[in-house]
Amino acid sequence: MVDDQVSIPILTDSDIVSARQQARELAKRFSFSSSELAGIAAAISELARNIVSYATQGTVNVSLIEEANKKGILVIVEDQGPGISDIPLAMQDGYSTSNSLGLGLPGVKRLMDSFEIQSEIGKGTTVIVKKWVLR
Ligand SMILES: Nc1ncnc2c1ncn2[C@@H]1O[C@H](COP(=O)(O)OP(=O)(O)OP(=O)(O)O)[C@@H](O)[C@H]1O
Ligand SMILES: [Mg+2]
Repeated sequence: MVDDQVSIPILTDSDIVSARQQARELAKRFSFSSSELAGIAAAISELARNIVSYATQGTVNVSLIEEANKKGILVIVEDQGPGISDIPLAMQDGYSTSNSLGLGLPGVKRLMDSFEIQSEIGKGTTVIVKKWVLR
């Protein structure tokens, strides 16, 4: 049986590429449209990029899920980095502590069907997102 979940340690730019590709391969097994597959890959890139930029290292976990007659993908991105002190602020378009665009987290929220973020200063950050197959 082929595994329906992958975990990719994130330390470098090439790990970001690898996480994107592995997630895309997994998501292809469900009937996501090509634009949905692109959106999932983009969301994973943004979250993995944040690990490299702000937390040094972390993990991207991707699973295929089935719930109450629907199918989808669950992505859990976690790190033990510095954490985010003000989550509502970090979720605003244009807010960045690194002079970047500040569109990563709000963009991920728009791309996915559900979005949760947990963060504790000095402990780390976990972002949990899901995308369901439309039918
Ligand atoms: N994993 C993380 N650990 C600690 N801080 C984070 C993490 N992810 C995001 N942040 C904080 O939240 C802010 C907003 O993140 P977001 O991804 O929206 O924007 P950005 O990374 O600054 O810019 P962009 O993603 O558009 O290049 C970041 O500038 C950073 O301060
Ligand atoms: Mg970002």
